[in-house]
Amino acid sequence: MEWQDQSADESERIISMKMWDGRFAKPSAKLLEEFNNSLPFDKELIEEDIDGSIAWAKALARIGIYNQTESRKVIKELTAIKNDWQKGHAKLLGSDEDIHMAVERLLVERVGQAGAKLHTGRSRNDQVATDTRLYCMRKINHIKNLVKEVQSALILRAESDKNIIVPGYTHLQQAQPISLAHYWMSCFFCLEREKSRLDHAYEICDIMPLGSGAIAGAGFAIDRKLLAADLGFSRISDNSIDAVASRDFALELLSSLSSLGIHLSRYAEDLIIWSSREFGYIELDDAWSTGSSMMPQKKNPDSLELMRGKAGRFLGNYTRLATTVKGIGLAYYKDLQEDKEPLFDSIKNMDLVLRVFASVLATLTVNSERMAAQLDPLLLATDVADYLTTAGLPFRQAHKVVGSIVGYCVKNKRNLMELSLKELLVFSPLFKKDIQVVFNWQAALRHRDVDGGTSLRSVNAQVKKAKMLLK
Ligand code: ARG
Repeated sequence: MEWQDQSADESERIISMKMWDGRFAKPSAKLLEEFNNSLPFDKELIEEDIDGSIAWAKALARIGIYNQTESRKVIKELTAIKNDWQKGHAKLLGSDEDIHMAVERLLVERVGQAGAKLHTGRSRNDQVATDTRLYCMRKINHIKNLVKEVQSALILRAESDKNIIVPGYTHLQQAQPISLAHYWMSCFFCLEREKSRLDHAYEICDIMPLGSGAIAGAGFAIDRKLLAADLGFSRISDNSIDAVASRDFALELLSSLSSLGIHLSRYAEDLIIWSSREFGYIELDDAWSTGSSMMPQKKNPDSLELMRGKAGRFLGNYTRLATTVKGIGLAYYKDLQEDKEPLFDSIKNMDLVLRVFASVLATLTVNSERMAAQLDPLLLATDVADYLTTAGLPFRQAHKVVGSIVGYCVKNKRNLMELSLKELLVFSPLFKKDIQVVFNWQAALRHRDVDGGTSLRSVNAQVKKAKMLLK
């Protein structure tokens, strides 16, 4: 694309050529022009605008507004403008008020009168709502594919890290031992829900507003169902006021991206901690870490920090649009032009976050020895309580007994796993020699063999299900 700055003379000439200036006695103020202009950002919608216009031209041809020759010519030239754009040749002008005006101008330059007929029955109000919905639908598919790539990386990690045991944390305090694969799969299933949020957002976007005109519906007998099918929409809007006024589809997508961003941020947080020297559980690949300008020894997990930091941006973009929309009545007001930048920004940044995360996951190394060395024997306290419960003691009492054993270990600096049967019998007569079986990390994992638990059987089942879901 080539951006042209006009000289003062040129601008004057173009101002007098505005498509809507018939009723005005003088040109808009320069500053208002600048304030009003959305082309610098809504050019992002050019392909959807052209696709929408091609479908609209066909619809106009079906009701005789265009004859065969005209519609063929218009469609051919719109397609050519799209090709030009893709090759970087389309010339958008600073004087084009927005992308809709720009495409129409380019078309008129190429086909004259036939181009001037294209806006028959159409308003930029239904046009922009259609373009933006179409754009969101395409981007949702793209984002979903990237989520799937992250999920594939998680499955690979789970498969290779299945036999690694790591402390599971609650309150960032060691809680119970888990398989590292179990941790990776937690992220997989969380992302499954994020995809269903995106599916829901898609469903809300998938309603075609075109044919609603400015507010009251097109004054021409457009076959809207055929038009929708042409554009890949599965439904048409039922009410023209709602169609041009609503931006809940954009909010739904921004909300889904916020939820996705929040969850990715939490995983980033864990992995940042795990990569610290104090934890030392993982090391990021050099290609996905950065250094310090001052401290030569530094290797920082900036990739993950940005992934965490961007959650604020996703939420901010949601809040920004929600705040804009809440104040405006029905139907179209120019405030709605403010929907685009937050939307584009969240989509662009989510694309980056997901691609970076997939690579970070695929390339990080796990320090299983360090993980094993950090396993505190007290992680097995619940297992000891479960042992006493199985032997007949009500869990609440078992909890108390084991609490006293833990206190004893801490006070006397004893390792829970090395206590003798004699020592244990002081706390409860229910201990037998087979308590030894409990003092084993693998046994602790096997012990949690419910569906969805951390046992190897359950983790294998999770991976199997995950692979099926990704198919
Ligand atoms: N650039 C505008 C937007 O993005 C297009 C719709 C303008 N409609 C109007 N009646 N001025 O919202």
